[in-house]
Amino acid sequence: MEELVALCKRRGFIFQSAEIYGGLQGVYDFGPLGVELKNNLKSAWWQSMVYENDNIEGLDASILTNSLVLDYSGHSDTFTDPMVDCKSCGMRFRADQVPKSCKKEDLTEPRHFNLMFKTNVGPVDDGSSYAYLRPETAQQIFTNFKNIVDSTSTTLPFGIAQIGKAFRNEITPRNFIFRVREFEQMELEYFVAPGNDEDAHNSWVQKRLNWWEKQGVPINTIELYEVPTDELAHYSKRTVDLMYKFPHGLEELEGIANRTDFDLGSHSKKQDELNLHAKVKLNKDSNSKLSIKNNEEGMVVPFVIEPSAGVERGMLAVLNEAFTIEGLPDNKNRIVLKLKPHLAPIKAAVIPLKKNDKKIVDFAQKIKSKLQDLGLGRVIFENTGNIGKSYRKHDEIGTPICITVDFETIENNSVTIRDRDSMQQERVDTEEIENLFMEKIK
Ligand code: GAP
Repeated sequence: MEELVALCKRRGFIFQSAEIYGGLQGVYDFGPLGVELKNNLKSAWWQSMVYENDNIEGLDASILTNSLVLDYSGHSDTFTDPMVDCKSCGMRFRADQVPKSCKKEDLTEPRHFNLMFKTNVGPVDDGSSYAYLRPETAQQIFTNFKNIVDSTSTTLPFGIAQIGKAFRNEITPRNFIFRVREFEQMELEYFVAPGNDEDAHNSWVQKRLNWWEKQGVPINTIELYEVPTDELAHYSKRTVDLMYKFPHGLEELEGIANRTDFDLGSHSKKQDELNLHAKVKLNKDSNSKLSIKNNEEGMVVPFVIEPSAGVERGMLAVLNEAFTIEGLPDNKNRIVLKLKPHLAPIKAAVIPLKKNDKKIVDFAQKIKSKLQDLGLGRVIFENTGNIGKSYRKHDEIGTPICITVDFETIENNSVTIRDRDSMQQERVDTEEIENLFMEKIK
């Protein structure tokens, strides 16, 4: 973990937020390369969910959440962690995360601590006009259910996908970006007819394992954890967690839950007409009946299967798998990030051999523009004049190829292409670069 954290800072992936003021615990900023990696991971998820499934629609809902949403969802009452104080060191911990240095007899009895961030809305701060920063992206998917059904005329089964920020006032944020207070989730709520939920659940577990494999997190690095009944969230009938071997231990990367008809039922009016399976709180505030017509059955409240993944945890897993230290023949080591090309923050670096040679520099810039125009991600022109140093840097940040423009390029239109993983260099005609680039990056 330490080496990874150091690389992330040194190369501009991830910084502690407000570091110049001593930081803000559990909050991170994503630098020039971090934002690219994050966007690429999110875009791979969006592609696999929304673009590859005609029955899945996207949504980008608000972060500020009406408190009624979180009252009826159960978050106001149950979204808590047990917290203890250590009378000896004066620190506060989540009850299951007390360090060994604190003695049992120094700990207070656990108290419930609600993890939601509350904020004031509007100019009057009298305690009555508040909202929450959403603790999960899911809830606004449920509150928009009717809007999406009506505007897309969809039928079961169908899904609504959303990527966005979520906030939790974690008692003990820790392990770099693993457990933080501000993070992003990639969540799908997949609505199915009651009775079809168990098959859909199993199928999503498999699909999500396959997706992680494509992001460079092999299936054999993930263990499936059947969450025991007494540990299930209040809405869940069954949850399967994908547990990944993070540098600090085996922990949850993604949870795939069967949320039954709990959420739609909870946010619906006229609940007594809905034949709900889940036990829900009586809703006196909703103005919408959240059901959908399903063939001959008439109106039903669908069950929901929810694959929910954290973007930061995904990045950590992807970086951890890609991070490699290789011994070289000269007894030196090289650090290389063997990221899947579609996730690499920079797709190619175009490097002129000589910094001050106008012909070489102009040629390199033209290649950069040509490749950039393909729209496959960031291509950079790097005029350091130090090829060895550039190769080392691009190995470390995971750039799949480096293209070197030299004197021969001017004579015969050929460049050197160096592959990040094999370090093999081949001479190719500039006419072939675009095809070769597309081949490597896709
Ligand atoms: N909508 C369901 C839900 O929010 P969750 O298991 O609490 O379920 C889903 O969260 C995913 O969100 C987790 O598997 C994890 O990847 C990510 N996540 C949750 N809390 C997090 C935190 N404090 N920091 C970073 N990621 C977090």
